[in-house]
Amino acid sequence: MLSFTFSYIVSVLAVLALVNSVFSAPICSVGVRSGGSNNSTSGSGSGSTNSTSSSNSTSSSNSSAPHFLVYSDAWVSGENGPPDPSEIAGYNVFALSFLLASGTADQAQEWESLDASTRSSIKSQYEAAGIKLIVSAFGSTEAPTSSGYDPVDTANTMAAWVKQYDLDGIDIDYEDFDAINEGNGAVEWLVQFTTQLRNQLPEGQYIITHAPVAPWFSNNSQFKGGAYLQVDQQVGSLIDWYNVQFYNQGTDEYTTCDGLLTQSSSTWPNTSLFEIADAGVSLNKLVIGKPAAAADATNGFMDTSTLGTCVAEAQSKGWNAGVMVWEYPTADASWISTVRGSAFPIS
Ligand SMILES: *[C@@H]1O[C@H](CO)[C@@H](O)[C@H](O)[C@H]1NC(C)=O
Ligand SMILES: *[C@@H]1O[C@H](CO)[C@@H](O)[C@H](O)[C@H]1NC(C)=O
Ligand SMILES: *[C@@H]1O[C@H](CO)[C@@H](O)[C@H](O)[C@H]1NC(C)=O
Ligand SMILES: *[C@@H]1O[C@H](CO)[C@@H](O)[C@H](O)[C@H]1NC(C)=O
Ligand SMILES: *[C@@H]1O[C@H](CO)[C@@H](O)[C@H](O)[C@H]1NC(C)=O
Ligand SMILES: *[C@@H]1O[C@H](CO)[C@@H](O)[C@H](O)[C@H]1NC(C)=O
Ligand SMILES: *[C@@H]1O[C@H](CO)[C@@H](O)[C@H](O)[C@H]1NC(C)=O
Repeated sequence: MLSFTFSYIVSVLAVLALVNSVFSAPICSVGVRSGGSNNSTSGSGSGSTNSTSSSNSTSSSNSSAPHFLVYSDAWVSGENGPPDPSEIAGYNVFALSFLLASGTADQAQEWESLDASTRSSIKSQYEAAGIKLIVSAFGSTEAPTSSGYDPVDTANTMAAWVKQYDLDGIDIDYEDFDAINEGNGAVEWLVQFTTQLRNQLPEGQYIITHAPVAPWFSNNSQFKGGAYLQVDQQVGSLIDWYNVQFYNQGTDEYTTCDGLLTQSSSTWPNTSLFEIADAGVSLNKLVIGKPAAAADATNGFMDTSTLGTCVAEAQSKGWNAGVMVWEYPTADASWISTVRGSAFPIS
């Protein structure tokens, strides 16, 4: 049910799986929590990273809606760093996954392991193409509250990593379902963590997003200590937008335009896009998140043309937050082109 979301391929597996087709299998490895390599943590990357701003982040001011964000976690054969921007035309945010409290994994680790000049060159190409490069944190691998991570220390470490490795910001893919369900401090943890992140990564210079599952935007009694409605009330002003996971919540959840946009099912009431906005969250911070293909999630997939229809419907009703997709390379330029359709034509 609510027990997993983003797949997480540990880098160890990625290294072993030198045959690319290995990963064409469903990468939604439900609840994989193996630690992967704890290795690398901050600082040790290429040995000689010039910490402070090798490039000035002032140029990266605010990115404004609509946001078209694609995650990149899966290992891609032959690559050495993020794809050429031309391969992801139509997106304006590329999220390297994942930065963990214990270090980096997968695409975040690959980014860290590039030499400084390669990173800088790629960053410039992305900037020229109008694509922000951010890192996504935690994923289903870590349960920060349940594990007792200190929110302030963790925020400081992660913010320093974002700066050291010259990114435009960070996405918080918090998936500590136990903490949310048990009400044992999840909201407080998220509030402290987000507050400290924003202290370190000022608004307008750095993007901070969160990626909650859609049901968390309700006062469902299952979430004993509240969930993201409370987070939004307390620190929503520090969060640029939400990459809402409208998937992995049940076979028929959020799979029609009605269910996705205007009336969610009785399983997760009041958590369709416009219902979340009615509960007080800024409509134009609610980015619709979907898997790229059925195999990219357990459920919640919509084909691109149907999803494009929903996106157009939402846009006609005044929404323009954008679309998030898990994940590259299944989610490519063609994928986003169809989903944007005539509502958000690619110029
Ligand atoms: C990662 O670190 C944690 C705690 O430091 C440890 O328990 C775990 O075994 C480590 N995992 C790996 C793969 O090294
Ligand atoms: C880190 O990775 C290197 C090789 O990549 C390995 O030699 C080393 O033992 C690892 N360290 C830890 C703490 O896992
Ligand atoms: C660090 O920055 C200095 C000055 O900007 C530069 O000369 C040096 O090559 C940089 N070192 C690395 C490892 O990038
Ligand atoms: C970085 O930004 C500061 C303040 O906005 C500016 O004074 C400085 O010249 C910039 N440095 C570079 C290398 O662009
Ligand atoms: C950044 O975006 C936020 C919300 O989207 C907005 O309130 C703020 O004014 C923007 N800041 C800058 C510097 O553009
Ligand atoms: C859904 O929201 C409506 C009003 O916005 C409220 O009356 C109703 O009780 C909510 N349903 C649930 C199950 O929370
Ligand atoms: C959810 O609960 C909080 C209090 O914890 C309240 O402020 C808020 O209005 C509620 N939202 C809805 C949509 O009922």
